[in-house]
Amino acid sequence: MCKRVQFKQHMSTYHLKSLEEYFVNYRKSISKPEVFWGEIAEEHFLWRKPWTSVCEWDFDKPEIKWFQGAQLNITENCIDRHLLTRGEQTAIIFEPNDPQESAVHITYNQLHEKVCKLANVLKDQGVKKGDRVCIYMPMIPELAYAVLACARIGAIHSVVFAGFSSTALATRINDCSCSIVVTSDGSYRGQKTLDLKAIVDEALQQCPSIKSVLVAKRTENPVHMETGRDHWLAPLMEKAVSDCKPEIMDAEDPLFILYTSGSTGKPKGMLHSCGGYMVYTAYTFKNVFQYKNGDVYWCTADIGWITGHSYIVYGPLANGATTLMFEGVPSYPDYDRFWEVVAKHGVNQFYTAPTAIRALAKESLEHTKKHDLSSLKVLGTVGEPINEEAWHWYNDNIGDKNCPIVDTWWQTETGGILISPIPFLTPTKPTYATLPLPGIRPVLMDETGSPIENNSAQGRLCIAQPWPSIARSIWGDHQRYKDTYFSAFPGYYFTGDGALRDEVGYYRITGRVDDVIIVSGHNLGTAPIEDAINEHPAVAESAIVGFPHDVKGNALYGYVILKETGADRNTENLKKEINQIITEHIGPIAKLDKIQFTPGLPKTRSGKIMRRILRKIAHNELDNLGDTSTLLNPDIVEHLIENRL
Ligand code: WT7
Repeated sequence: MCKRVQFKQHMSTYHLKSLEEYFVNYRKSISKPEVFWGEIAEEHFLWRKPWTSVCEWDFDKPEIKWFQGAQLNITENCIDRHLLTRGEQTAIIFEPNDPQESAVHITYNQLHEKVCKLANVLKDQGVKKGDRVCIYMPMIPELAYAVLACARIGAIHSVVFAGFSSTALATRINDCSCSIVVTSDGSYRGQKTLDLKAIVDEALQQCPSIKSVLVAKRTENPVHMETGRDHWLAPLMEKAVSDCKPEIMDAEDPLFILYTSGSTGKPKGMLHSCGGYMVYTAYTFKNVFQYKNGDVYWCTADIGWITGHSYIVYGPLANGATTLMFEGVPSYPDYDRFWEVVAKHGVNQFYTAPTAIRALAKESLEHTKKHDLSSLKVLGTVGEPINEEAWHWYNDNIGDKNCPIVDTWWQTETGGILISPIPFLTPTKPTYATLPLPGIRPVLMDETGSPIENNSAQGRLCIAQPWPSIARSIWGDHQRYKDTYFSAFPGYYFTGDGALRDEVGYYRITGRVDDVIIVSGHNLGTAPIEDAINEHPAVAESAIVGFPHDVKGNALYGYVILKETGADRNTENLKKEINQIITEHIGPIAKLDKIQFTPGLPKTRSGKIMRRILRKIAHNELDNLGDTSTLLNPDIVEHLIENRL
C-alpha cells in the first residue's frame, strides 16, 4: 500500500513527463497490464459502475474484453464532466473551406446542447441503443455532433468518408443494415462543390434497411427530398429538447463500426467498443501530443477515417482539449492554407499525413514563410511511412527544427496509436516510429513464423498482447476477424505490416506485406478495385499493384486483359472508362495512374497471379525478377516488360 502511494507521488501514470517515467510505466504496463490500465481508468474517467475485471483475453478464439462489468457513457466523459470546469472553453474550432467565411468556436456548453438535441432528433426518428446509424457528411460541426449523438444514445455509428461513391456507400449501409443516414445537401472541397445528397439518393435505391435520412444544410444547392423519408436537420434540432440523458453502456457494448479495405472481397466493418477505446484514445492523445490545458490542437484528417474518430473527436474531447476541424483542402485558396490556419488559430499541435507534407514541400517555401508558425510545439504524421526528405522538410520548415515530430504508427483495427515517439521524451529518428507506447508489445516474426529476439532485425509485425482499444470483431463476420488477424501467427495479432527494429530497438514500419496499397494515406485493397475494373464489358481480367509516387507515396498500376470484343477499342477511351467505373464503385481515390493492356498475366500453375513480378515491372526493377520457373506462362513476362509504362 505504502509503496503504491510513493510511486504515485513520484510518477504520473496518466501523463508521462520524462523518458524515465516512460520506461518505468512501459515495464509496468507489460508485466502488470491490469494494474497499469486499471489505475489509469480509475483516476481519469467517469464510470457509472466499476469493472469486475480489467482484461480478459484469448487470441485463439479470439475474444478480448476490457473493463468487464463497468458501465459508462463516453459522451459524459467527452462533454458533461468538462462543463463544471470549462463549459465556456472552446471544444471545437470549425475552420470553413472558404477563408472568407468566419471560423466558428463551439464551447463545451454549446457542444453539450447540440449533441443532446441531435440525440433527441435521432430518438424521435426511432433510433435505439444498438441500432446502426450511417453518417455520410463533410467536415462540418454537424458531423461531430452526429457521431457524439449516436454515442449519447448508444446507437452504433458507421461513418462513411464522404469521398466514397454511392456504390461504396450502399455496400457499407447494407453490410451493417443501418436504419438511418445522416448527411448534408452538399460539401465544399476547395473550388469544388459535391452533391452529397444525390449520392445518398442513388445509394438508397439499393438499401432497404434505411427508414429515414437527416439532411444538414451546407451548400444550399437544390436537392430532392423524398417525402416521408428525408428531413432537414436544422428545424428538427431547433425544436428538440436541449438535454438528453446519456444511455448507460456496458464497457464492451459497441461504440462504432468503421470500414477498412481488406486484401480480398468486401470492406471489413471493424467493431470498436466503448470502455477500452475511450481509455486508450484519451491516454495516447495526452501523451503523444503532450497536450496541455489551453493548447489548440489540429489534426487535418477527415472524421471519416479512424484518425478523425480517435484524434479529432474522442481522444481530444476526453481530455477537455480544443480540437480544430478543417473543412477544406491544403491547396485552397492557395498552398499556404495549412500554415495560414496554424497562424490564425495559434495551433500548438499539428497532425497530418506524409502525402500532404510531400505535396506542400513541392510548392514554394514562400508559402510557409508568409505565416507565423511559432505557436507550434509538436508535429505529427500518420498513415504511411514518411520518407526522409519529407521528414526533414517538415522538421526544418514547419517545426523550425524546434518541434519534435511524432511519426505515429497504428491502424483502423488498433483504434489508437501503438508505436510513436513521445515528444520531448523519446529522441526522434527520421522515418522511425521509434518505441511502442505503454501496453504495446510488438514482436517481429521471421519467415518461419518464429519471433525474432534480437535487435537489428526485420520481419512481420505482430503484437503479443491486447491493448484496450483493439477492435473486437468484424461486424457480422467474426471468422474473418480471426482469419485476418489471428491466424497467420497463432497467439499474436498480425498487423499486415513489415517492420525493422534497429540496434537500439526503434521500429521503422516498412509497409504492407499483403495486397493492401496505401495511396495518399488511403488504405486500398486490390481486390475491390479489380472487381470494379472487371465489371467493364470489354475487360476479361485485371491485376493491380502499387508503384512509388513522389507525392502520393504509392500510385496504382493496373494490368488489364481485354476480351476479344474489346481488342479493337480505342485504348485511351478504355482507360477513361475504366477509371470512371472505379470512381463509381469505390471513389476517385482509387483511380489508376497507369493502365497497361496485356494479353496475359503471369500465373502460377495453381492459377494464382504472381504479383511480385507485376510489382517489379511497375517499379521498373527489372534486374532481378526472382524465380519465374513456377510460371505457367513465362513468355508473358518479356511481353509485359517490353510494353511497360
Ligand atoms: C496502415 C493502416 C491509422 C490511421 C491511418 C491509417 C500504414 C499508418 C503509419 C506510419 C508507416 C503507417 C500501415 C498500417 N501506416 N501509420 N506512421 N508509418 N505506415 O489507418 O487506413 O487503417 O491504415 O497504414 O501500413 O497498417 P488505416
